[in-house]
Amino acid sequence: MEKAEATFPVANIFLTIIPFVIVTIVDMLQVPTAGLALHYLFACLIPPYGLIGGLYFVIRVQLLASYAGGIDALTAASYTAVDAAVVPTAVIMGLQSLLLLAMVLIMDRRDRGLVLFAMAAPEMPKEMRLVKEEEDVDITRERERAMARLPNADFSTCIAVRDLAKVYSKMTGGHCGQAASTESHWAVRGVSYRVDKGEMFGLLGPNGAGKTSTLQTLTGELHSTRGDAYVAGHSIKRDLKPAFQNMGYCPQFSALMRRLSVMEHLMLFGQLEGFSLEVCRERARAFMLLMNIEEHADVWAQNLSGGTQRKLSVLLALMGDPAILLMDEPSCGLDPGARRVLWNVIRQTVPGRAGIMTTHSMEEADALCDRIGIMVMGRLRCVGTPQHLKSRYGDGYALELKAPAIAMPALDAMVRCEFPGASLEEEMGGRCM
Ligand SMILES: Nc1ncnc2c1ncn2[C@@H]1O[C@H](COP(=O)(O)OP(=O)(O)OP(=O)(O)O)[C@@H](O)[C@H]1O
Ligand SMILES: [Mg+2]
Repeated sequence: MEKAEATFPVANIFLTIIPFVIVTIVDMLQVPTAGLALHYLFACLIPPYGLIGGLYFVIRVQLLASYAGGIDALTAASYTAVDAAVVPTAVIMGLQSLLLLAMVLIMDRRDRGLVLFAMAAPEMPKEMRLVKEEEDVDITRERERAMARLPNADFSTCIAVRDLAKVYSKMTGGHCGQAASTESHWAVRGVSYRVDKGEMFGLLGPNGAGKTSTLQTLTGELHSTRGDAYVAGHSIKRDLKPAFQNMGYCPQFSALMRRLSVMEHLMLFGQLEGFSLEVCRERARAFMLLMNIEEHADVWAQNLSGGTQRKLSVLLALMGDPAILLMDEPSCGLDPGARRVLWNVIRQTVPGRAGIMTTHSMEEADALCDRIGIMVMGRLRCVGTPQHLKSRYGDGYALELKAPAIAMPALDAMVRCEFPGASLEEEMGGRCM
């Protein structure tokens, strides 16, 4: 995005100046028909050129009149004559504006999954559909919880994900005589769960399970292919703006602005949330202190360590004091000490809100989440409190020991004696499990 911001103005200047120079030279060389033809070609193909090219032809009308010694005879008709190229250029620009506006609106509607495109939602292939009898009883119960009608007060503070699905479409083929076709990838396959106020829901799962896609759908970054979700009582399909106003989001990949400092980020987000300058400053200082990053207050985001960037991203999500907190792998890349600090902050913030966080670590989910859902291949496979999952699916405990290699056999014998049935799974570099 920042790259586009930097390159676009430069590209625009070149795309405008170069055709302009070509048209004026050809025109001045007394090849007016070629000059006009080039002008219309550039005006049609390069929208920013139209304005500067059009101005050239306005000035050209005046210059020609003054050379002919009749500047006083200039009338509106001098400009509107077809060979003056002023009106046709204006018409081309007008049509281009309408076309580009229509394209923006269509893309915006498609990104928000609105009516025009919702009808084109693909059917989930049969082999991906889950047979009712195969569904885990906890998942069925969770779906019923998510679909249940709630009193307004409760509904307006919770997250209810209802049969949410996300398909990515990719064009394949279309070259070397191959027919082009669209390949659909079902990243999220109809998940349902509910997160109430004061609850942190942990979304676990291997890489590519669909955790980020689920959160991106909840934040409106992606449109859902099927299903809906209610964030603080507002549908993400029909009512995204008020849903936005209630949520704080820490994305998986840094969305920081490279040349803004930590303090500037916090001040900017605070002001976007509508706080006064004084309140923003106070909150920013308190937040930095809380996360132990006050010494980096004036450091640009691009010069921060990965861990400090993650901490700042979590603080930005919290800056507006949101009712709903969504965090995608907030502790990724943090060292154990920094992780503890982050955990404390998350724990302190949970009581007043409903939250979803994704993680790869069962230890983290156990420490921070009231309930956990495990996703595999886009589907929620088990859900419950950490204790419930351990007792239902737990397969014993893992004991990790560090000792000099020479002591390993004795250690192994001792563990087997103390815990009959224990087995040595792994031994490497003075560490065994
Ligand atoms: N923009 C995209 N276009 C096409 N496929 C995508 C896109 N983003 C994600 N996917 C695919 O969707 C699936 C789910 O991806 P997602 O990023 O949601 O998983 P995840 O559980 O967050 O993984 P991780 O733990 O690695 O962050 C993956 O197979 C991924 O390759
Ligand atoms: Mg992810």
